[in-house]
Amino acid sequence: MRHPSILICILYLLLAACQQEAKKADGEMTETDYLEQGRQIAQVSFSAVSARLGKALEEGGVAKAIEYCNLNAIPIFDSLSLAHEVEIKRTSFQLRNPRNLPTVGERAALKKYQDVIDTGNTPDPEVVLDEAGRRVFHAPIMIQPLCLKCHGVIGQDILDNDYQVIRSMYNNDRATGYSPGQLRGIWSITFPPSDQE
Ligand code: HEC
Repeated sequence: MRHPSILICILYLLLAACQQEAKKADGEMTETDYLEQGRQIAQVSFSAVSARLGKALEEGGVAKAIEYCNLNAIPIFDSLSLAHEVEIKRTSFQLRNPRNLPTVGERAALKKYQDVIDTGNTPDPEVVLDEAGRRVFHAPIMIQPLCLKCHGVIGQDILDNDYQVIRSMYNNDRATGYSPGQLRGIWSITFPPSDQE
C-alpha cells in the first residue's frame, strides 16, 4: 500500500456508512427528522474529513495532507452521498475549489448565517426548500484553530511553502485570511424528492 492514510480514510468511510440510523419510510419523515438526519450526516462527513486530515497532517504536514486527501474531498462527499442517499456539499462565498460554487438558495443561506453572526449570535442549522422544491439541510461551518494551517493568513498561519502547494492545485483560491470563530461556509445536504410527500 503506497499511501496508508488512504486505506484509513476508506475504512473510516465504511464505518461511517454503517453507523447510519435506520431510515424512516417515505412520507413518514417530519421536519424534525430531516433536521436530525441532516445534523448526523454533516457530523459523519465532518468526522470523515477531519480523521483523514488529522492522519495525513501527522504523517506528512500540510503539503502532504493536501496532496493525499484534499484532492479527494469531493469524491469522499460523493461516496458518503451515495451511502446516505442524499447530496452532500460544502459551499462558501470565498471558495478554494470553484466546483463548490453556491446555488441561489445557498447564497441566501450564507448571507443569512453571516448576518446572524454579525449581530453576535450563533446560527442554527435549518431545513429549507430549494428552487426545485427539495428539502435541503443547511448548517454553518465555523473556522477552528486547526483550519488556520490552510485557511488562515498566508505567511503567518499558512507557511509560504504550503501555500505554494495549495495555489498550485487551486489557482483561484480565495479561502484564506480567516480567523477562529468566523463563518467559513455552510453544509448543504439535499434530500431526494422520494423522501418527500
Ligand atoms: C490541510 C489543509 C486544510 C485544512 C487543515 C483545512 N482545509 Fe478546508 N480545504 C482545503 C482544501 C485543499 C480545500 C478544497 C477541497 C476541494 O477540492 O473540494 C478545502 C475546502 C474547504 C471547504 C469547501 C469550500 C471551498 O472553499 O472549496 C470548506 C467549507 C472548508 N475547507 C472548511 C474547512 C474547515 C472548517 C477547516 C477546519 C476544521 C478546514 N477546512 C481545514 C484544505 C484544508
